[in-house]
Amino acid sequence: MRTPLIAGNWKMFKTIAETMKHVKALRPLVKDITDVEIVVAPAFPSIHAAAESLRGSNVLVAAQDLYWEREGAFTGEVSGAMLKDAGADLVIIGHSERRTLFGETDATVNRKIGAAFAADLAPIVCIGETLDQRERSETLDVLDRQIRAGLDGVTSGQLVQLVLAYEPVWAIGTGRNATPDQAGEAHAHIRQRLRQWFGAEAADLCRVIYGGSVKPENIRDLVAQPDVDGALVGGASLDVKAFFDIARNAAEAFR
Ligand code: PGA
Repeated sequence: MRTPLIAGNWKMFKTIAETMKHVKALRPLVKDITDVEIVVAPAFPSIHAAAESLRGSNVLVAAQDLYWEREGAFTGEVSGAMLKDAGADLVIIGHSERRTLFGETDATVNRKIGAAFAADLAPIVCIGETLDQRERSETLDVLDRQIRAGLDGVTSGQLVQLVLAYEPVWAIGTGRNATPDQAGEAHAHIRQRLRQWFGAEAADLCRVIYGGSVKPENIRDLVAQPDVDGALVGGASLDVKAFFDIARNAAEAFR
């Protein structure tokens, strides 16, 4: 019913030359993985080169952020139309690093989601609780708030194109992934809320992926959870072989 998705978030890593080397190695490695959608998200300057090099392959390109205006006097910002023009098909929105380091809120996430749809980019919207919030048993409330405010105004038709990435903040870049049970509980909750707020049909088609210290060794157990539709991979996605292993292991686990 849902095509699994494995996306690599490269964050602020890789020059254009390094990007080219990576995607040239990745393309033939993953060419036979047809039952999982594979996405790489390079930094802005490398998007065009990556998209050109991956044209006609089964690897899509995502941006890591966008600004909500189409054009104008917004020094330093990049619009959805520009990203689409550069070859991106998706865009990550509201990553926890954007929220903690750059002041993004559910309100800015909401505007960015609208801009992504307007530019025909599929949004990958990141949500997730901090360690403090988990320890105070607020996880599910935080997720509810992030979904409700972030996705305010999103239609059921749009939800089908949108990807939610559940990324517990304490698991990002720490080597400490959520246990499959923790991920499973959060994902089941998210799916239930999506059903409630967008209807069963749209909720069952919306992909909800997990992120936070995903590695070739833990991807199988994570995607074995019924509502985990793939992964957003940070650190391990910078290594071609590790990223390929994650995609292949996920594909096998989903079969
Ligand atoms: P990580 O990052 O895999 O390095 O924990 C995940 C992310 O930030 O999306």
